[in-house]
Amino acid sequence: MKGINEDCDRLISNQKNLLDTIPEMVLLVKDSQTIEFMNPSAQSFFGNLCSSNDSMTSQEAKQLDSLLFIVAKTINDEGIGETLDTTFGESHLEYTLAHFRGYKGDALHWFFIRDLTDNKNQLEELSLFHNSIETILSHKISDLKESERMRRSLASELNSLKEHLKEQPEEGKMVGSSRALSELRDMVFQVAKSDATILITGESGTGKELVANLIRESSTRNDKPFLKINCNTISDSLLESDLFGHEKGSFTGADSKRKGKFEVVDGGTIFLDEIGDISARMQAALLRVLQDGEIIRVGGNSPVQIDVRVIAATNRDLAGMVQDGSFRLDLFYRLNIINISIPPLRERKDDIIDLTTHFIRKYRKAFKKEISFLPQSILDRLLLHDWPGNVRELENVIQRAVLMAKNNVITENELFFDTVTQDNEPVSQSSHLDNIDGKSLKSLVADVERDIIVHSLQKNRGNVAETAKLLDIGKTAFYDKMKRYNISAKDHK
Ligand SMILES: Nc1ncnc2c1ncn2[C@@H]1O[C@H](COP(=O)(O)OP(=O)(O)OP(=O)(O)O)[C@@H](O)[C@H]1O
Ligand SMILES: [Mg+2]
Repeated sequence: MKGINEDCDRLISNQKNLLDTIPEMVLLVKDSQTIEFMNPSAQSFFGNLCSSNDSMTSQEAKQLDSLLFIVAKTINDEGIGETLDTTFGESHLEYTLAHFRGYKGDALHWFFIRDLTDNKNQLEELSLFHNSIETILSHKISDLKESERMRRSLASELNSLKEHLKEQPEEGKMVGSSRALSELRDMVFQVAKSDATILITGESGTGKELVANLIRESSTRNDKPFLKINCNTISDSLLESDLFGHEKGSFTGADSKRKGKFEVVDGGTIFLDEIGDISARMQAALLRVLQDGEIIRVGGNSPVQIDVRVIAATNRDLAGMVQDGSFRLDLFYRLNIINISIPPLRERKDDIIDLTTHFIRKYRKAFKKEISFLPQSILDRLLLHDWPGNVRELENVIQRAVLMAKNNVITENELFFDTVTQDNEPVSQSSHLDNIDGKSLKSLVADVERDIIVHSLQKNRGNVAETAKLLDIGKTAFYDKMKRYNISAKDHK
């Protein structure tokens, strides 16, 4: 018996020695009531909870209660043998409870505990770090997405600007950097994209047709037909059948059914120039097109649906015409959905220098002249002039000056303003370049030369000698030219 006890003691002491050396906390709990044994790790964590209740501090007594509660709960929940975890105050513990039959037959439990607080904190820190990396990454990704979006939108803006530049060859370019013209240019490109009807108003020669061309070129219908109709050059009945077509036999000469321009241009754009000049009947027909998107052929009664964008222009005061009853109010409203009003050149004199440079370049090329210098005195005169004929007048003045210029310089001698009639309207002199197709250079130059001779004679009240001197040409040669162009000095006295 003594030997057995000694064996037991030896076993117990061996075991204790072993348990004392391991870093995990080990406790031996008896009957879920008392703690029989704690290895040094456990003691340094919990304090010595093996002593009797009376000698314990209140803190230790609390610790003991909590530990025993965990033990009782684990036994109840049949958690013996499992690795479980719990919080203990601020600490995170991992523990396992195991049966242990004591050497003296008592029912005990091993309580192995590992403090995972540091691990947990590290994990939390890691996950925080991970999260913040994720946040940083997601910010970076959204930044990248944003810059990609910006890049795309800038690229598409660049493309549309390139298109825009392509759409504006030298010829159809709207020149001018005055505030009024910049605003006008912005408005043109803004309204072009919609399908709205546009009314362009402005004095003669301000650039209404140019604006109509730009609108059409910048619209989505730029690859569809574009038809220009000058409403004041065609007789009313012809205009109606021209625009809306006619049924067979609807009038003398209508021997077959014909589609009108609105039908032919379907899907495209129609430019109705001088809209202020159309008759009441035409006004009614046009109102139907704008209101219902349909036309009725002359002599017909069934409407035909059409899809045409209408751009109209006039230099007349349509609102005034509405007031005096010569223009329908309802049509005026329909046409005037968007009004582009082009200011006269005298109200945007800042454009004169740009326009002058533009026209010098244009005619220098056309007449193969090397004009490279425009004295300030000439510019001053151009800036002083009131330009009743607006840009067209300026273009004519420059065209003549370039043609006549000697030694690559334009001087006062080459500067002729358009003749102005009594009611202060300039005598319309359409640009020679408006109509050059099919004509030889020789005949074009002859046209211009003739105009210059007429102008110069007018200016000098028919005095041939004075005019020839001014134009730096011998009198005989000048008479020859007058004869060739059938010009009589008497007509200009
Ligand atoms: N801003 C501009 N830049 C360049 N050229 C211009 C400009 N404005 C007008 N022009 C030129 O002036 C001339 C007259 O312009 P346009 O025919 O468009 O005027 P309009 O207002 O239609 O005149 P009208 O009422 O007499 O028909 C054209 O040769 C046109 O190219
Ligand atoms: Mg015009």
